[in-house]
Amino acid sequence: TGAVTYDPGFMNTAATTSAITYIDGDKGILRYRGYPIEELAAHSNFLEVSYLLIYGNLPTPAEYATFDQRIRRHTLLHEDLKGFFGGFPRDAHPMPVLSSAVSALSTFYQDSLDPFDDEQVELSTYRLLAKMPVIAAYALKKSLGQPMLYPDNSMNMVENFLRLSFGLPAEPFHMDPTVVKALDLLLILHADHEQNCSTSTVRLVGSSNANMFASVSAGINALFGPLHGGANEAVLNMLRQIQASGEPVEKFVERVKNKEAGVKLMGFGHRVYKNYDPRAKIVKETAHEILAKLGGNDELLDIAMRLEEVALTDEYFISRKLYPNVDFYTGLIYKAMGFPEKMFTVLFAIGRLPGWIAQWREMMKDPQTKIGRPRQLYTGEAERMYPSR
Ligand code: CMC
Repeated sequence: TGAVTYDPGFMNTAATTSAITYIDGDKGILRYRGYPIEELAAHSNFLEVSYLLIYGNLPTPAEYATFDQRIRRHTLLHEDLKGFFGGFPRDAHPMPVLSSAVSALSTFYQDSLDPFDDEQVELSTYRLLAKMPVIAAYALKKSLGQPMLYPDNSMNMVENFLRLSFGLPAEPFHMDPTVVKALDLLLILHADHEQNCSTSTVRLVGSSNANMFASVSAGINALFGPLHGGANEAVLNMLRQIQASGEPVEKFVERVKNKEAGVKLMGFGHRVYKNYDPRAKIVKETAHEILAKLGGNDELLDIAMRLEEVALTDEYFISRKLYPNVDFYTGLIYKAMGFPEKMFTVLFAIGRLPGWIAQWREMMKDPQTKIGRPRQLYTGEAERMYPSR
């Protein structure tokens, strides 16, 4: 009741309070639970960051060990769930495969669905953290027509995921420590970003008291869009198109500025960051180092760097405060690691998972939480009578 404010895209509307992630978009600051992203990127690891986001503090060594063990214990997927993957077409995009399989977790693990039972919430937290990377790797294997390996719980989450993604039963798997370290870092950078589109989706779905699997599955679908997580795949498509056309970078930028057929500079711009995206800064710094070690495609990196240079000195981008975002350079790194482009947004989803879980749990414990139910300004017909015929 009372006056309804109109705020399309929620440009200025806070839908919740939250103690998880702090962003200052003008200063380019990002902190998880108070810790600057630069510090976490330099000193922490993805598992520890997941704990931090979900429980609020860095774990003690004992807490870390328990958390790690619990997640390792839950990596196996129910055998019948594996049958799911056979139902999709061979060329299926792995994002809807991932969201479907995560949604299906509600049917296989019915003993952890109550959002108000602390033990069940803990169990679904471990299950999701353990099983989602496995589901993601199986979606990749399915698209390649390769056999799915069983997880090896002597490995940590990132190592296991890499082995399940690239390993083959016929030969020993070579774990490249450069890839492990780089992927871990990228997952940290994606782990939470306050009330972005997918996280708001997780909260909105969860606000009806839907279970954690159902809420996260909805978040995965929100992340799939090219304006959100799908941008990392779209950036690489854009770089490839520029490369294939032989068109100078300046000409492509002109087409973006003229808003030709909706051409955007993918990987640029952000709703909140209006100075720079601190995650993009870290990715750019490491991109050169990692690509040098992994032998990435130099020509695509050159095109990306040239695009950035041209855009950052162009009035169109300067006046609109458009800077490279986290998705601008990540695709090049994922590609150098050997992931096909369709997997890029799936990697984002694995990274964002602890953030979704932390936000969902925070909401369920918040006495202020109400079912999400936005209002509207009606623009349709006034009342009219059904004609007598
Ligand atoms: N290329 C060209 N012009 C752009 C771009 C871009 N990437 N981004 C924004 N603009 C223009 C936009 O056309 C508008 O111009 P005008 O005032 O003339 O109409 C102005 O800048 C303001 O943009 P907006 O669309 O109103 O800004 P928004 O806050 O609603 O959208 C965004 C933010 C991220 C959706 C948008 O910048 C975008 O579409 N970027 C490309 C996709 C992308 O890289 N997404 C990843 C975001 S970061 C990580 C993640 O969430 O996945």
